[in-house]
Amino acid sequence: MKNFLVSAFLALTVSAAMAAPSIIPWPKTLTETMEAGKPAKPFVLKWGCTVGGDAAFAGEIKSFREALFPATGIWLKVTEATPDIRFVRDTAQPKEGYALTVTEKGVEIRASEPAGAFYAVQTLRQLLPPDVYRSAPVRAAWEIPAVTIADAPRYAWRGIMFDPARGFIPVPELKRQIDAMAAHKLNVLHWHLTDDQGWRIEIKRYPRLTAVGATRPCTPRPFARTQMDGEPQPPLFYTQDEIREVVAYAAARHVTVVPEIEMPGHALAVIRAYPELACSDQPDLTPRWGVNKEIFCAGNPKTYELLEGVLDEVVELFPSSYIHVGGDEAPKTRWNACPKCKAKMAELGCKDMHQLQTRFTEHFARYLAAKGRNLIGWDEILEGGLPKGAAIMSWRGTKGGIIAAKAGHKVVMTPKPFCYVDYRQQVPNDPYEYIPNNTPNPIWKTYELDPDAGLPEEAKPFILGLQGNLWAEYIRSGEDMDWKLWPRACAIAEIGWTPQAARDWEHFRARVSGPGLERLCRMGLRPAPVPEKK
Ligand code: ACM
Ligand code: ZN
Repeated sequence: MKNFLVSAFLALTVSAAMAAPSIIPWPKTLTETMEAGKPAKPFVLKWGCTVGGDAAFAGEIKSFREALFPATGIWLKVTEATPDIRFVRDTAQPKEGYALTVTEKGVEIRASEPAGAFYAVQTLRQLLPPDVYRSAPVRAAWEIPAVTIADAPRYAWRGIMFDPARGFIPVPELKRQIDAMAAHKLNVLHWHLTDDQGWRIEIKRYPRLTAVGATRPCTPRPFARTQMDGEPQPPLFYTQDEIREVVAYAAARHVTVVPEIEMPGHALAVIRAYPELACSDQPDLTPRWGVNKEIFCAGNPKTYELLEGVLDEVVELFPSSYIHVGGDEAPKTRWNACPKCKAKMAELGCKDMHQLQTRFTEHFARYLAAKGRNLIGWDEILEGGLPKGAAIMSWRGTKGGIIAAKAGHKVVMTPKPFCYVDYRQQVPNDPYEYIPNNTPNPIWKTYELDPDAGLPEEAKPFILGLQGNLWAEYIRSGEDMDWKLWPRACAIAEIGWTPQAARDWEHFRARVSGPGLERLCRMGLRPAPVPEKK
């Protein structure tokens, strides 16, 4: 027994000393420096260590110092002369990429632009013990293993979609998620701001959008999607100041916020505020989850006027090159029976109502293009033919994305069977799973996605990247949001960043279920455990 304890203790101390780096997402290349068959001595971060380098990275150096201080109590001293941690501008480094060298004597970060330096810092933090993410001082050996890393992302779009239209997300909760996203090199926050159950963005020209559209007369009961609870909700929305605050907070962490304004479907919140925009005189205004037949009338000039007015303010608030206009789940029931829509269809020479949706989308693609922006929409916008100039978000599988990429359209892959992170994660006795028989999508399934699969070589460059979607019909708190999103967002991050050939489920599982979860907990999140692969 004694021998067993001694050897178990030795095994523990040895494995702690030689703990393998467990960075998420895994870098493109990483070499651990060895000396006489053993890991070379680490760099030890301690009081008095210095930092400095190219002025282009002043923001990254500042945020690095601020990130280290709370847990370590170390304020890195800024110096111009041979700092211990040196940031070097190197135009040979790829976009968002960096080179990182750690020796016993110091750390060198090379990057061509601030995003690369920022990602090098995220890697450096993950090379430290997970306790470095704590918000209060903790005693630990702040050692960074001796490594050489050359890194750059596989894709430019590594996104997560949040759905405050269904379950409102207060600004501090969003900031928490942005911090965790940035720590994992996720760089797009798709903000689903409007839907049948609520309009969440202040528009100065149309105050009723929030005065009425941000309220909710009733909400579906948890287990019966069509039964309403009869409890009205007060207006819940983001003011324009709050939106600017979130956009700036995200930008400082190299996260782009892409807003979504749904059209022509999922428009019930607008129709409650402006009933004249419906096709029918007596629209059914019950905000059930799922697909609603009351959509914007495509034959009414006022629809175009309102949506253009909204987009005018949206582009002022959001500097993103892409603006999402929804386009999913727009049944043509009302259009088929509407004299105005039928007249519009005839005027534009459309052969059916799907083509009318394509023309409708093209109208807003042109409107946004005139303002220097690109339109992106869900894959239904392909149904009436590919709208000129539109990018596609492929959610009903990868098929729509493959068609669009082959035709030269930009694509973000977000197929339901892999990327819907509100689905059941197959954690035993899951306390946050309220829906019987909810579709399963455990983390190991998410990890299996290869966004390029099935594409010919020449179409691959059109894949912008991928995104996890966190729909919020059944999210009831910030903790619930953490649980559903993390650690599945770690899988999204690794698919988006790491070369396909360098990805391996067992390697990922070991990293994410150990230090990966520990880091998330130290950040103050409540991640789910990693379920067994079945
Ligand atoms: C979607 O899930 N309706 C895009
Ligand atoms: Zn109509």
